[in-house]
Amino acid sequence: MSSTALLLLALAAPLSSYAAPSITQSVWSQLNSTVGGRLHAGIPFARSCFAHVTSGVGGTQDAAACAAVQANYVNHTLLQDSLGGYINTQWETCQATSEQCLLDYQNATDQRAFNTPARICSQGSVPDFGIKVNGASDVLAAYSFSKQFGVPLVVRGTGHEYKGRSGNPGSLAIWTHGLKSITNAPKFVPTNCPKTVKPRTAVTIGAGVIYEELIDFADTNSLTIPAGGCISVGAAGGYPQGGGHSMFSNVYGLAADRVLEIEVVTPRGDHLIANECQNTDIFWAMRGGGGGTFGVTLSMTTLTFPATKVNAVFANVDNSVPGQLLAFFEFMVNNAISLAEQGWGYYLYPTLPGIAMSNTVLSQAEAEASIAGLKQLITKNFTGSGSTWEMTVEPDYKTYYPKYVTRIPVPVGFAMTTASRLIPVANFQTAKGRADLAQAMTAIIDEAPVAIAFGVAPFYHGNNNDTSVTPAWYDSLWHLALANTWNFNETATSLTKIYSDLSSGVDAFRALAPNSGAYQNEADLYEPDFEQSFWGDNYPRLLSIKQKYDPDHLLDCWQCVGWKGHSDPRYKCYLEVNGI
Ligand SMILES: Cc1cc2nc3c(=O)[nH]c(=O)nc-3n(C[C@H](O)[C@H](O)[C@H](O)COP(=O)(O)OP(=O)(O)OC[C@H]3O[C@@H](n4cnc5c(N)ncnc54)[C@H](O)[C@@H]3O)c2cc1C
Ligand SMILES: *[C@@H]1O[C@H](CO)[C@@H](O)[C@H](O)[C@H]1NC(C)=O
Ligand SMILES: *[C@@H]1O[C@H](CO)[C@@H](O)[C@H](O)[C@H]1NC(C)=O
Ligand SMILES: *[C@@H]1O[C@H](CO)[C@@H](O)[C@H](O)[C@H]1NC(C)=O
Ligand SMILES: *[C@@H]1O[C@H](CO)[C@@H](O)[C@H](O)[C@H]1NC(C)=O
Ligand SMILES: *[C@@H]1O[C@H](CO)[C@@H](O)[C@H](O)[C@H]1NC(C)=O
Ligand SMILES: *[C@@H]1O[C@H](CO)[C@@H](O)[C@H](O)[C@H]1NC(C)=O
Repeated sequence: MSSTALLLLALAAPLSSYAAPSITQSVWSQLNSTVGGRLHAGIPFARSCFAHVTSGVGGTQDAAACAAVQANYVNHTLLQDSLGGYINTQWETCQATSEQCLLDYQNATDQRAFNTPARICSQGSVPDFGIKVNGASDVLAAYSFSKQFGVPLVVRGTGHEYKGRSGNPGSLAIWTHGLKSITNAPKFVPTNCPKTVKPRTAVTIGAGVIYEELIDFADTNSLTIPAGGCISVGAAGGYPQGGGHSMFSNVYGLAADRVLEIEVVTPRGDHLIANECQNTDIFWAMRGGGGGTFGVTLSMTTLTFPATKVNAVFANVDNSVPGQLLAFFEFMVNNAISLAEQGWGYYLYPTLPGIAMSNTVLSQAEAEASIAGLKQLITKNFTGSGSTWEMTVEPDYKTYYPKYVTRIPVPVGFAMTTASRLIPVANFQTAKGRADLAQAMTAIIDEAPVAIAFGVAPFYHGNNNDTSVTPAWYDSLWHLALANTWNFNETATSLTKIYSDLSSGVDAFRALAPNSGAYQNEADLYEPDFEQSFWGDNYPRLLSIKQKYDPDHLLDCWQCVGWKGHSDPRYKCYLEVNGI
């Protein structure tokens, strides 16, 4: 049977248990011709391994395709490229009903996940269809279609979402991942700005560009463009729109701080160029207000920096020697302000335990002097073979990145959830504040299997770029995050407990920093008072901008600006946890 015939068969079947029943095959075909044949069926990533599917799931069982999926199950490369793949696999599933199409991530050939007993592959939260967008008219077609037929929309780039905002049951995805242009703009002046605006070094990228491509481009052009902790995160999607921290954000600012212009298509139907001189309201909203909320970015222009050497440190602490872990935390807490003032950025891993650090501000000699206290602590005061110290000067960002940023890789290809708190400078300014924080750090190890204190707040950079992230970001030193993970075979009841426990794990830090907030992209899925936590005093203005550009709520998402609450049928696959 030809693939077209198979596809027609799949389309002739009911589209999925979630799809609005009124939508017939001919309606989808019409949409497909409106968008020039760029409509794709959303097929769960591991579908090819399953003999049995629920009605409406496309694709076929296919041994070769299954083997490729199994070989790449915990690799971001195939996942970020597949409309039906999500980096954190629970977002492919319907958690409330346990409908899924997953493999055992610890052993992707484990028959128990897909064959013994015969398991059924379900569509879960994978969009039924996605338009691989090529330009504004495709996005406008998606908006009209959603309004006419009531099909929920999602915006999907790489599927790196931690909170499920790029998938939805029965949805149509606006899939931006094919927009791959990268243009160097060494003397960029935002569109329609007066001649008095000074040109800046920048790069204009399509919404589908991932950091891997941008790091290579920057390297070829002798530039530095800071990236987060995974090279397949989208450079113009949820990362800059939600904030975007990196090892360099203490000095270079958050990704949101560096955006100079956004080309956006709004649900109201405008195709805008937004920058500091025109459409300033949506420009502000899309630098921190969150992805998938105000419009679809087609392209974005972001600041670049000259290529630079990087002073880099990696250290481990031997935790088998009593007292050393607390001494390490105390040192980091006691010195956090001066380290930030001297331009250090770092990922402190309480559960490793260890730390990766970088500095592009100081010379090698200055960096060595500046970090001598930590070096002495680890190499002289600490004992045990697990205490190690390494310091190098890397010639450029591309060389430095794999050796220090992703040396401890962020795991992908299984279910993972986070909860976090921004830790204000004020907590580091008093002896009691410091002691309490160091003490709370030691308890983390019992709260979650994964924890990172990201020394990435834009403290050195300062708050001078008028973004819409919570102002707490600019009053903080650390973004402290916990995470937990699980496999394919957990029940909804045990997931509810995992989410709830992780949320409780952050309570100690909420208590230490009650007026702070959290980083929306890596927050508790069930964040209490999320509007205040993610946006602080910026929320009312963000809400009015949401209402202006998306009056029909075509782009709603979980705990996003304008959220109508869990009872919206769009969120039926989210579990109820802690009354949210
Ligand atoms: C392995 C890994 C490492 C990470 N490391 C970091 C890190 O170091 N620092 C950090 O700050 N964050 C990090 N994150 C979190 C990351 O910022 C968020 O997951 C972010 O939302 C990913 O954006 P995306 O566009 O790549 O993903 P997607 O899942 O495609 O989209 C995420 C959100 O953005 C929206 N969106 C995507 N594209 C567009 C568009 N073109 N227009 C409008 N909305 C859009 C989606 O609707 C969704 O709401 C990491 C995540 C992962 C999985
Ligand atoms: C949309 O049309 C193109 C070109 O005719 C075709 O290849 C593709 O399979 C269609 N998509 C769907 C989901 O039917
Ligand atoms: C992921 O897959 C890509 C492409 O096949 C490969 O180049 C890369 O080495 C893989 N990464 C890991 C960590 O296996
Ligand atoms: C993985 O699963 C396969 C198939 O069920 C099994 O034969 C193999 O022993 C498992 N491997 C491990 C390491 O558990
Ligand atoms: C942010 O503000 C600083 C200081 O005013 C300025 O140097 C920098 O260029 C600004 N960045 C952006 C992206 O506007
Ligand atoms: C390390 O040991 C030296 C010598 O005993 C001491 O002076 C110093 O304070 C110690 N450093 C820390 C951070 O405890
Ligand atoms: C899930 O399966 C693994 C083996 O892959 C097993 O060790 C574990 O106990 C199972 N968990 C549950 C909740 O059934």
